[in-house]
Amino acid sequence: MANEETINDTVIFIFGGSGDLSQRKLMPALFNLYLDNLMPKNFSIVCMGRKSMLDASFRKTILAGIKKFSRSKFDETASKKWRKFANNVQYAILDAGNKKSYAFIPQLIKQKEKEWNSLPSAMFYLAVAPQLVKPIATNLGTLDFCKDCSRARIVIEKPFGNDLQTAQELNILLKSIFKEKQIYRIDHYLGKETVQNILALRFANTLLEPVWNKNYIDHVQITNAENIGIESRGEYYERSGALRDMVQNHILQLMCMIAMEAPVNFDANEIRNKKVDVLNAIRKITKEDVPNMSIRGQYGPGWMKSKKVKGYRQEDNVNPHSTVETFAALKLYVDNWRWEGVPFYIRTGKYLQEKNTSITIHFKRSPNFAFPSEAVETWRSNVLTIAIQPEMDIALRFQAKRPGSKMVLNPVNMVFSYSSYNLPQPEAYETLLLDVMEGNATLFMRDDQVEAAWKVVMPILESWQTKTPSDFPDYQPGSWGPEDSEALIAKDGYTWINQSIHNTFKSE
Ligand code: BG6
Repeated sequence: MANEETINDTVIFIFGGSGDLSQRKLMPALFNLYLDNLMPKNFSIVCMGRKSMLDASFRKTILAGIKKFSRSKFDETASKKWRKFANNVQYAILDAGNKKSYAFIPQLIKQKEKEWNSLPSAMFYLAVAPQLVKPIATNLGTLDFCKDCSRARIVIEKPFGNDLQTAQELNILLKSIFKEKQIYRIDHYLGKETVQNILALRFANTLLEPVWNKNYIDHVQITNAENIGIESRGEYYERSGALRDMVQNHILQLMCMIAMEAPVNFDANEIRNKKVDVLNAIRKITKEDVPNMSIRGQYGPGWMKSKKVKGYRQEDNVNPHSTVETFAALKLYVDNWRWEGVPFYIRTGKYLQEKNTSITIHFKRSPNFAFPSEAVETWRSNVLTIAIQPEMDIALRFQAKRPGSKMVLNPVNMVFSYSSYNLPQPEAYETLLLDVMEGNATLFMRDDQVEAAWKVVMPILESWQTKTPSDFPDYQPGSWGPEDSEALIAKDGYTWINQSIHNTFKSE
């Protein structure tokens, strides 16, 4: 079990340290680790940015972010601990493209070595715009310290490249400077409690494994619905779109967790090997098949919960004729022995009716001929639902006899809810930052994993680029996306599961 004695002293350098990610996620996560005594005995956090700022005013901004975004309450204990924590936080101006700007890094590490009488590790966290990753990595490469594989670690935020080619180029560059084990490509979905629990559910229970295959599973649905728009990220989103922003990384990773074979152990490479196998087995969609296997959409202006909202094309820094998708749905197959012929329907979108990330495993229908026809009017097949967020539940739908003098079957849910633990749930970034400090890469993406994921989406991206959608915007905020998305699944005889677990199946 990690604690401040077992984690090596660490200097954390956050590039883009005055930005949004740092304020909303990274600093609250580091502070929560500190509150839980999970930071190293000695640590120092250096946030870097272009603006000039005094340490004192920077700490004030960070504190405001912690108060607003942290999962834990800022009570008296937190306030006392904040004072100590803040002493370890400093701000530095950095010109990312200027090699000379980096000279202070090894000097600071040396100074900490003396002060702490230890050999600290260094984490270089790149919370920056994608175009800055190359210059920063290149300049870090000029520091001798970065050659020390046991002490220097680099963390790269998504997006990792903009397509397969740029991801490969970035991997080549990073690997010319760092060893693979020093590189932590982050996908914050892998740090979520409910996502990690998929491994426990699948591989710590004997009940599911025998039925976890094409013989018993009819199809799988993965939904990632957001009830927010692109917010202030127009510039980024115009270069990204839903496929790059959510599918290439988060959703394919969820799919890997569902489809992977059992690992032999929990070694980082073993888990990642098993995930890469899934990505490599996903049937490549041919260009001709793209219209049958994928749907894209874009939100127009409208209303979200009685609030008027802009359409995508009216958002700041967005081209008024933009054809970038804010919704994507795909039908994928995993061509291996376990999954042959089982469709995986995945979808994601902005400004959908509600925030809901969930996975539903739909089992094959059982023969129901033993029951009289009037008994089975509401009969449904078994469904296992893994609710990732905001609900954090696992539910199994099965048939029960409705109380009464007649034999009438009814679908009911057996539910496990995370809230029943009554324990604090660490945020994904807490888990992931702690893993980096401990040198555990299990929940991070390896080079071949990222590239294999790009290979899955490339034919769709290429096809979408060549055909301009004529009907954008094509869905209303607060809906479940474009009508074509319903058609994608309806033509196979299914419907998307939209409701939360607790209401699930009432209206199906
Ligand atoms: C990010 C995407 O990676 O994930 C965002 O860039 C998206 O567009 C976010 O909103 C969703 O994360 P979460 O944890 O809120 O589901």
